[in-house]
Amino acid sequence: MSVLKVENLRKTYSSEGFLGTRKGKVEALKGVGFEIGRGEVLALVGESGSGKTTAAKIICGLENPDSGLIKWRVSRPHPAQMVFQNPLYSLNPKLSIKSCLYEALGCAGVPRGKRPARASELLRGAGLEKINTSKYPHQFSGGQKQRIAILRALALEPELLVCDEPVSALDISVQAQVINFLKDINSSAGLPIIFIAHDLEAVSMIADRVAVMKEGLIVEEGPAAEVITSPRNSYTRKLLDSVPVNPWLSKS
Ligand SMILES: Nc1ncnc2c1ncn2[C@@H]1O[C@H](COP(=O)(O)OP(=O)(O)OP(=O)(O)O)[C@@H](O)[C@H]1O
Ligand SMILES: [Mg+2]
Repeated sequence: MSVLKVENLRKTYSSEGFLGTRKGKVEALKGVGFEIGRGEVLALVGESGSGKTTAAKIICGLENPDSGLIKWRVSRPHPAQMVFQNPLYSLNPKLSIKSCLYEALGCAGVPRGKRPARASELLRGAGLEKINTSKYPHQFSGGQKQRIAILRALALEPELLVCDEPVSALDISVQAQVINFLKDINSSAGLPIIFIAHDLEAVSMIADRVAVMKEGLIVEEGPAAEVITSPRNSYTRKLLDSVPVNPWLSKS
């Protein structure tokens, strides 16, 4: 059974050229549809500008589509949480890690007295039980910051996690660590994840299914192993051919 089904999403942005000289419209989404099942990891891949982030923002309620249907089968009011590419910008620099997590837990309705224990539990799950949570985001490494950003999203008790290129801003040596953490979350809690990436090697580590986007449309969709090993679409083949090898990622 699907957690989320989107149908025929359309979104046009009106854009201004340099100093407002050139006005135009960009059709970011031209009728995108897909579904994601319980416990599933769906990867959205495609070249820059193909509409991945626009789709993610619409699903998370950060942007409205011009038209289309978004059908949820969930029990809570704010079902999707987004994890952004760069945790340096997505985490509030003025909040200690502790305050950041307590604030998110507060938003999820966790009573004040229960927040410390729940925060410790979250940190343990991310292998961050030893960090000093009175410190601020800039005092942590990129991989740690991104795991903290993921924990903040989890603290809000989402029923779907939408990760928009969650490892692209990280040193390649820690990318696998973050992907494995997302994999753990998915397998232990059964939380469905939309994983947006350029890097198909990262996708092959985590995704059950892959949807390939091009110019605001999904051009191919199917089980990850199939799409990655024998793509039907020539655009998907081109994407695969352009993937640089990351020696730190393995499919173990
Ligand atoms: N706020 C905006 N205003 C105007 N145009 C936008 C806006 N956001 C996105 N676009 C345009 O919509 C199209 C899709 O953008 P989007 O960010 O969804 O692509 P993407 O697949 O996430 O790309 P990338 O891989 O570079 O992150 C692009 O042409 C982009 O320039
Ligand atoms: Mg994007």
